[in-house]
Amino acid sequence: MAEAVFVRDAILAQSFIRHVEIHDELGSTNDRAAELAADADLTLPALILAKRQTAGRGRGKHTWWSSAGSLTFSVIVNPASMGIPAADWPRLSLTTGVAMCDALQREIGEKQDLVDSERRGAVRVAIKWPNDVILDGAKVAGILIESRGAGAAKDRLTIGIGINVNNTWRSAPRDAGPDGIALCDATCHEHDLQSILLRVLNALDSRLQQLAANDTGLPATWSQLCWLTEQEVEVENNREWTDGVCVGIADDGALLVENVYGTHRIISGSVRAL
Ligand code: BTN
Repeated sequence: MAEAVFVRDAILAQSFIRHVEIHDELGSTNDRAAELAADADLTLPALILAKRQTAGRGRGKHTWWSSAGSLTFSVIVNPASMGIPAADWPRLSLTTGVAMCDALQREIGEKQDLVDSERRGAVRVAIKWPNDVILDGAKVAGILIESRGAGAAKDRLTIGIGINVNNTWRSAPRDAGPDGIALCDATCHEHDLQSILLRVLNALDSRLQQLAANDTGLPATWSQLCWLTEQEVEVENNREWTDGVCVGIADDGALLVENVYGTHRIISGSVRAL
């Protein structure tokens, strides 16, 4: 696998990012972002990228496997300065998920001629509510949005993104989980990490603008991209379980689960397809 090359000036020139940090290795880009977010003079949006993370974090107690070949970064934003009110923060995870689907679908589309003909059309990206991106039925990427701290940091959010790109899932450690995939596993091709980064950043910029404008096309897209729709699911939230069939994602970001008692709106929790 070729060593990943990231060019700071190209990122600044070709995306909405205004401050860039590129590290060969970090514990977690979200932890570094939390330190930086406390600096009132930080120019935003700020990008913190690590070629490898030694303590990559997922939701809850989960870890995030971040070996060479994966794309792991965090973007610090001030949503209010982008026209996104605090009431819309719960919709940010799905907005980011849509942007990642945009970017990955475009990347796959360009490599389509390199995907063997039998698999053509089968390579599809989707959102698994609330913060996973699915490729060909397996998790290819995750999102971890955090807001920590007081002072300048309290108006800022860190959008942490991890994408399995050239780190083939065949080399994943056992504790990375059974159901992952890397982009290279689906396309049988090595990808340029910087160009995927730019695709994600540009898609994120336009989807955040759509959120700020309250454009109804955005929730329509996340509902279309919902991988769980029509699947039997079990949702756990604070040791309460809801079983039923997923019927989509509402405009406010709630997962919709239907059973004999009616349609339930799930605001937070972990969901499992049965
Ligand atoms: C999940 O699927 O549970 C979320 C995974 C998020 C991983 C990314 S990698 C970059 C950023 N830094 C971290 O420590 N985690 C996020």
